[in-house]
Amino acid sequence: MTESLVVGSIRDLLRGLAVFDTELPEFDVDAAPSDPVALFVEWLTSAVEAGVREPHAMSLATADAEGRPSSRVLICKDLAPDGTWYFATGAGSRKGRELAATPYAALCFHWPEQGRQIRVRGAAGPADAERGAADFLARSPGARADALTGRQSQVLDDPADLDAALRAAHAAIEADPGVVAPGWTVYGVRADEVEFWQADRDRRHTRLRYTRQDDAWARHRLWP
Ligand SMILES: Cc1cc2nc3c(=O)[nH]c(=O)nc-3n(C[C@H](O)[C@H](O)[C@H](O)COP(=O)(O)O)c2cc1C
Repeated sequence: MTESLVVGSIRDLLRGLAVFDTELPEFDVDAAPSDPVALFVEWLTSAVEAGVREPHAMSLATADAEGRPSSRVLICKDLAPDGTWYFATGAGSRKGRELAATPYAALCFHWPEQGRQIRVRGAAGPADAERGAADFLARSPGARADALTGRQSQVLDDPADLDAALRAAHAAIEADPGVVAPGWTVYGVRADEVEFWQADRDRRHTRLRYTRQDDAWARHRLWP
């Protein structure tokens, strides 16, 4: 098969895939609350009730010191009334290092079953160590052992090294169930913008952006 045939068939495959091909909820912007946290909770509750898979999974985009972006999927761990979204990870990971260099991040939730997307953007940084420890200790033993290896995002030369590190981590947890991985960190993204996006099957999509202004939020509809 030539390269152009492969590329051509991929193009056809992509073009043939459906999008927004389901019953979609309404989004009445005029009835939207003045606070994006309230609307997020409303949409999250509706996503859970609608059976959206892993609605707490979100992409996290960070940038290195040169402004070069990278993104990955994480679990959202918490949301505070002041408009801070939380996740947990290792400070030594690529994202941890990028956040140390450039303390800003963007999050994106995508709930395809409802044609919904929520984008969050703001200053990002570590929460206090107690919060990181509490998150760590609430993890399953397997997840704690995984984090305790402390080498996320490093090159793994030999899978046997991972097996050995996991065995050592499980032994450390058994010896001291209160042990906490030193780099395990809860990070918060304090939103200065939150956008709610609702797909429409006729492509008249609805967008509402909240922008932080001192102690209140400004609301604007956006062109789709
Ligand atoms: C659904 C899903 C949830 C994930 N949740 C987390 C998480 O909460 N924390 C984490 O460190 N990695 C999580 N990961 C793995 C990350 O996507 C990523 O591979 C890892 O954190 C390393 O990223 P980095 O090299 O950019 O730092 C998750 C992956 C998926 C697909």
